Amino acid sequence: MADTSYMARKSVADIVGSADAEEGHSLAKSLGATSITAMGIGAIIGAGIFVLTGTAAAQFAGPSITLSFVLGGIACAFVGLCYSELAAMLPVCGSSYTYTYATLGEIFAWIIGWDLILEYAMGAATVAVGWSGYIVSLLRNVGITIPPAFSAAPGTVIKMADGSTVTGIVNLPAIVIIAILTTMLVMGTKESARLNNIMVAVKLVVVVAFIALGVFFIKPANWHPFIPANTGAFGNFGMSGILRGSAVVFFAFIGFDAVSTAAQEAKKPQRDMPIGILGSLVICTVLYILVAGVLTGLVPYADLNVPDPIAKGVDAIGMTWFSVLIKIGALTGLTTVILVLLYGQSRIFFTMSQDGLLPPLFERVHPRLQTPYLSQIMIGTIVAIVAALTPISVLGEMVSIGTLFAFILVCGAVIYLRRSDSGASRPFRAPGVPIVPILGILFCLLLMAGLPLVTWVRLFVWLIIGLIIYFSYGRNHSRLRFPERH
Ligand code: ALA
Repeated sequence: MADTSYMARKSVADIVGSADAEEGHSLAKSLGATSITAMGIGAIIGAGIFVLTGTAAAQFAGPSITLSFVLGGIACAFVGLCYSELAAMLPVCGSSYTYTYATLGEIFAWIIGWDLILEYAMGAATVAVGWSGYIVSLLRNVGITIPPAFSAAPGTVIKMADGSTVTGIVNLPAIVIIAILTTMLVMGTKESARLNNIMVAVKLVVVVAFIALGVFFIKPANWHPFIPANTGAFGNFGMSGILRGSAVVFFAFIGFDAVSTAAQEAKKPQRDMPIGILGSLVICTVLYILVAGVLTGLVPYADLNVPDPIAKGVDAIGMTWFSVLIKIGALTGLTTVILVLLYGQSRIFFTMSQDGLLPPLFERVHPRLQTPYLSQIMIGTIVAIVAALTPISVLGEMVSIGTLFAFILVCGAVIYLRRSDSGASRPFRAPGVPIVPILGILFCLLLMAGLPLVTWVRLFVWLIIGLIIYFSYGRNHSRLRFPERH
């Protein structure tokens, strides 16, 4: 007899069994540990380090933005260990959505699935807006000018060099990059992964070169005072500034969890998932701390409130040619982030659709290309519209709060499943349970506390909209609660 309550939860055995999906709905198993780690790095290093580091240093933390990255890295390390346990134990592509289905039950799983749209689809839109800023700047270097009104969201006021102002109409470059990447994802996962590996290599080289060259030009005076005195307002420098800075640069860490959405396409998920998640997280955290240290050593932090702070750091070294390379590296970096986020979104919808909580078109796989093409095209269209019409600041904080919320539930799921399914096979065990997941939850709450109230309100409204959709569609089509209807 099926459990028809909204709290119905999936059994671990069923989830693992369903990884062998029905014919016509299966994804190709084409990804190895290297591709998966590269995918993690592809999703992680992006707008956070290339755009937000400068803003956060100039406005909130000064040189101690380096400590903000340490704090963000510690929070993500606890969460990453929890993700690794669950991704190896439940190798299906729903990410925290699936883990919640197995713990708190269907209605909470839906809430998380809905919440993940903030992280993935809205995240892709945010980074596409950052991409647009860098391409406009790079094209200007080679003498091509894109009219500012066509590279900014409606209502955005852009100050021109001559002091006049222009109001944005639509962000065309953001639409273009999303259209290109959506086409690639429809054409095939393996091909996309190969190109992703190349682009990840390019951005890693650029980031490492920045650190290696920049370190010789640091002026230690720029690091004093390392923690500028608080101005009297919460978050404006001092200790609270480090916290506020962490909440903002947390965006830079988002993406390591995207690795878990590829579990169903991994050749050996039990081994490759922990390697991919923890490996990419460690590499990126180390690079971030070094970049933040070098950048604030090169440029006085007050001058870093620009859209391309890393390029500004390079200007301080005095190598103009390297500045162009940095922009190319940043563009490549941002491209891979958008690619992985668009990919992850379609895979989460795929799983939600298999569960009956979303219409069947989201699980339709192209017979030859083996990709969920219809879903991918719909996602691309909506993300392009949002990116074309919304400013980056509003999007960025929504992405962070939505992701932190999902992380908290993932940590909770580890504790829950250790009790409810103590005998299940765990190829990777997070150490120190329940201390590690509890610390993960506390650190995420701490970072959420650093975000403004309006962002909390937006999250709340978003979740209410999600519940309305669940009660109008998902609750009547759930495969778990009404297997006879399928
Ligand atoms: N971590 C990703 C970025 O920084 C989302 O762009």
